[in-house]
Amino acid sequence: MYIEDQTIAPGLDLFEEIERLKAERNAVILAHYYQDPDIQDIADHLGDSLKLAQLAAQTDADVILFCGVLFMAETAKILNPDRIVLVPDLEAGCSLADSCPPDLFKEYIDRYPDHAVITYINTTAEVKALTDIICTSSNAVRVIASIPEDQPIIFAPDRHLGNYLVKQTGREMKIWNGTCMVHEIFSEQEILRLKAEHPEAVLLAHPECDETILRHADFIGSTTAIIAYTASHDETEYIVATEEGVVHQMKKASPEKTFIPAPTTTGCACNQCPHMRRNTLEKIFLALRDLKPEITMDEGLRLRALRPLERMLALG
Ligand code: 13P
Ligand code: SF4
Repeated sequence: MYIEDQTIAPGLDLFEEIERLKAERNAVILAHYYQDPDIQDIADHLGDSLKLAQLAAQTDADVILFCGVLFMAETAKILNPDRIVLVPDLEAGCSLADSCPPDLFKEYIDRYPDHAVITYINTTAEVKALTDIICTSSNAVRVIASIPEDQPIIFAPDRHLGNYLVKQTGREMKIWNGTCMVHEIFSEQEILRLKAEHPEAVLLAHPECDETILRHADFIGSTTAIIAYTASHDETEYIVATEEGVVHQMKKASPEKTFIPAPTTTGCACNQCPHMRRNTLEKIFLALRDLKPEITMDEGLRLRALRPLERMLALG
């Protein structure tokens, strides 16, 4: 059991200490855009799920500290069996990954043995091991196009992304019924009210949002694509229908523009992912200091999960 001394000396400059430990450990910090702004600022590299997987495949650091959620750190471990992969908090899961238990998924795909199995990267290593090819929100259309036209497809676990992709590609797919707790909480009614108040505002949405939101969006894309959109367009007001962590990079690139997090059905701060937000500077410091918590994985499982991941990475 992990019962290390978790006390941190009062007055310690965590930014300085993290830099020092990073150099001492030859560690790299990879962070997703849904992390707290402070964590985004200390990261060596930021990215969406695809970019972070690509960075994990290329690093020569001895230690990878992954500031995101568990499935992302597992992906880094699948690609780096000989490196130490750390996470600030082992409890940082993902509602979408949880919505697809491997035993139920195995029963499901066994019913359709002629189907190619595409899973979104937001899954456990066990589900990846049952997959033919993985995709992210950045490359899903390309991944689907890599499957022969006459081969039927199973897509899991996100039903909103799956339905969006059916429309984008014209391919029929059997879709698993999973959702993301953050992206399904946006309110169509409140967004329409906000759009009426800000008629010039551009609505940006992640494809994990419900169709009732996506149908009003001016642009739909991955976190990287949404951030890049705001930096490369002249409009000055944006409503952002994804986890609000992305706004940090948007403001950095375009401090003169206005970014409004999309309202939720309950008016709560539920557009912050509670899993992503478990990570803190304190936990990052402790992880680098103690080299824990570490991601470990059975080698057989790792090899089975590696195959569909490499197939995706080979598509570029
Ligand atoms: P991106 O790959 O677009 O960054 O999405 C990751 C994610 O978890 C969305 O909820
Ligand atoms: Fe998972 Fe949703 Fe959080 Fe992304 S935002 S990590 S899909 S729970």
